[in-house]
Amino acid sequence: MKVTKSEFVVSAVGPAQYPDDALPEIALAGRSNVGKSSLINRLISRKNLARASATPGKTQQLNYYRVNDDLYFVDFPGYGYAKVSKAQRAQFGVMIEKYLLNREELKLVLLVVDMRHPPSKDDISMYEWLQHYDRPVCVVATKADKIPKTKWPKHIKIVKETLGFKPYHSLVMFSSETGLGKDELWEVIESRIGA
Ligand code: GTP
Ligand code: MG
Repeated sequence: MKVTKSEFVVSAVGPAQYPDDALPEIALAGRSNVGKSSLINRLISRKNLARASATPGKTQQLNYYRVNDDLYFVDFPGYGYAKVSKAQRAQFGVMIEKYLLNREELKLVLLVVDMRHPPSKDDISMYEWLQHYDRPVCVVATKADKIPKTKWPKHIKIVKETLGFKPYHSLVMFSSETGLGKDELWEVIESRIGA
């Protein structure tokens, strides 16, 4: 996709703030610090539109970014951050869960995992949850630049085995540092939104 325009739209704390112009939405889920915001920035070729939060885990909103007049990226707060209280986590879980279950505009969830390590328990739960509710998902294995190329196949194998990856889903290897996987991921997104 040729990105001619991208902008931050809203930090939504609930459905009342979600945009109402019916554009397709692509959500990004993944552990705190895994590289969700960096991935958005790389896809839209902006250095710093999607912000890495100074206090990870504090952001409890869904951050909406509009790309052209084509779609929104919805940046989720990362999960697995220890300093969030149990009550906060439960509250946040409800909002995300409702969004994932009910949001008609949601066309694809990018489940972002760190290619250097086996997916965490939270990654596995998220992947299983998405499958259980039959939500469209694409696994993105990011930070590929941190691993020598010769070891990529081994790491991808571990990611797939640990997740219980289903071959009918897409998996894209990615690097926000080098741009690896950018075109491939755009193709997956475009095919989901019919662009
Ligand atoms: P939260 O918003 O806290 O959930 O984090 P996030 O998932 O949005 O991660 P973010 O994009 O803020 O990136 C976290 C750190 O990882 C930053 O220091 C990034 O520069 C770095 N990073 C992200 N993607 C890559 C990548 O592909 N390669 C390398 N080398 N570093 C990356
Ligand atoms: Mg972020």
